[in-house]
Amino acid sequence: MLLPVVVAVTIAFVLWKYFSREQNELAKLPGPPRLPIVGSAITFLGLSPEETFKRITALPNEYGGRVVLTAFGRYILHTYNVEDIEIVLSHSRNIKKGMAYSFMEPWLGTGLLISTGNKWHRRRKILTPAFHFDILKSFLKVFEEQSKSLVEGLRQLNKGGTDVVDVIPFISDYMLYAICETAMGIKLDSDTSETKIEYKKAILDIGSIVMQRLTTIYLHNDIIFNLHPLGRRFAKCLDKVHSFADNVIMERKKAYGTEQNGGSKRRLALLDLLLEAERKGEIDLEGIREEVNTFMFEGHDTTAIALSFGIMLLADHEEVQERIFEECQSLLSDSDGGISMSDLGEMKYLEAVIKEILRLYPSVPFIGREVVEDFMLDDIRVKKGSEVVVHIYDVQRRPDLYPDPEAFKPERFLESDSRHPYAFVPFSAGPRNCIGQRFAKMEMKCVLSEIVRNFRLAPLTPGARATLKTDIVLRCVDPIHVRFIPR
Ligand code: HEM
Repeated sequence: MLLPVVVAVTIAFVLWKYFSREQNELAKLPGPPRLPIVGSAITFLGLSPEETFKRITALPNEYGGRVVLTAFGRYILHTYNVEDIEIVLSHSRNIKKGMAYSFMEPWLGTGLLISTGNKWHRRRKILTPAFHFDILKSFLKVFEEQSKSLVEGLRQLNKGGTDVVDVIPFISDYMLYAICETAMGIKLDSDTSETKIEYKKAILDIGSIVMQRLTTIYLHNDIIFNLHPLGRRFAKCLDKVHSFADNVIMERKKAYGTEQNGGSKRRLALLDLLLEAERKGEIDLEGIREEVNTFMFEGHDTTAIALSFGIMLLADHEEVQERIFEECQSLLSDSDGGISMSDLGEMKYLEAVIKEILRLYPSVPFIGREVVEDFMLDDIRVKKGSEVVVHIYDVQRRPDLYPDPEAFKPERFLESDSRHPYAFVPFSAGPRNCIGQRFAKMEMKCVLSEIVRNFRLAPLTPGARATLKTDIVLRCVDPIHVRFIPR
């Protein structure tokens, strides 16, 4: 009974929006055929996540640097023009995230990634000190320990008789340990391994559900979605991720209390800043939960994906591994006390390798904004209510900006950099750039240098590349398998 009413109301609303719409200047721009009412939504209908990824990334080749899609009266501008990207990302008031993010709200709430306006400004102010140089410096020990224990894990697999590793799940475990220990001040141990596995499975599931919802227009409606089997699966996943996050908060609250009372040396963790803000009445427990969920996800999944694609690329490029090895040997051979911040700063070649990995495989391939204030792109007015999607993935593979764009060539980033500053934006840019980018680069340097110093990587099938699919972060259809041969 309820469903037909909801459908009728939705259709009436859409018809009203369609017939009462003003002419939008974005309508002048090219794009896939736009049918009345449904617009170009039909383009993605029935496509698999893998086909959707191919279709989205083919848009610039088919239609040029600015492509417009429409759906139910909404205009969505897809851009891979560096000049447009600069205008969009550096705008100080157009910081509201696009519609796709709202489907993640039941999970991440309006935490730092999704919030906007004053709430975002307040939260960013509370959380920025958690990424101060001195604090990152204090995380170095954890990154080093985790990298060593990751290498030890690889040795154990070797001893068990195999040198072939399913890279993504293996790496992502260590990235989860690292974010919990650094930002949350919690050491995950074997007791939590079951809930940890459940948590990671739930995150993968949430990503694919959000994308299925995004490309299935009738599931955009909350009531229909919640009644749909997909919505029920989503609710189960939410239970799992929320209980994992709640446990982390409880654990830290306990430890934080004892540290304060016992006067033991205080660990600087992001979660501590949030707990302190709670005491001052600047945030409530629900707010803390939003941020813990946001940082646990953003802080481990993005780096795990980047490292996994990186390992795949390195396996195929022995000469790059050797250069990393030599650089690390010359810097670290007589450092008995482990890696220092200045060692990391000196790893210029590894830095270029990491940039090249993130150019080819940016963990967040597309980002979206909902326009809250009209702005101009040359002579085109982008009106309030439209959306803009920045194709990070595509701009970073533009042949005019990166000759031989599909090739893995870290030297590109060693040469003097005359590229437009918005031609390389894996961490986004402007006011809503990635708050964790220095954290991520440090962690990636520690892990990659430790792996390359201990193993030679080799591909199972030389030259093979992962098939990518749409998700909330970059993911591939099949596992990445790489051989880790002890040096
Ligand atoms: C290779 C690793 C990473 C990549 C490629 C990456 C990329 C990005 C990108 C592109 C954005 C902008 C998203 C958007 O506008 O929708 C972003 C935002 C964000 N990232 Fe990262 N990220 C990485 C690692 C991290 C880490 C390690 C953390 C936390 C420790 C983190 C926390 C965040 C947060 C909280 C935001 C939202 C910031 C805001 O809106 O104020 N990220 N990241």
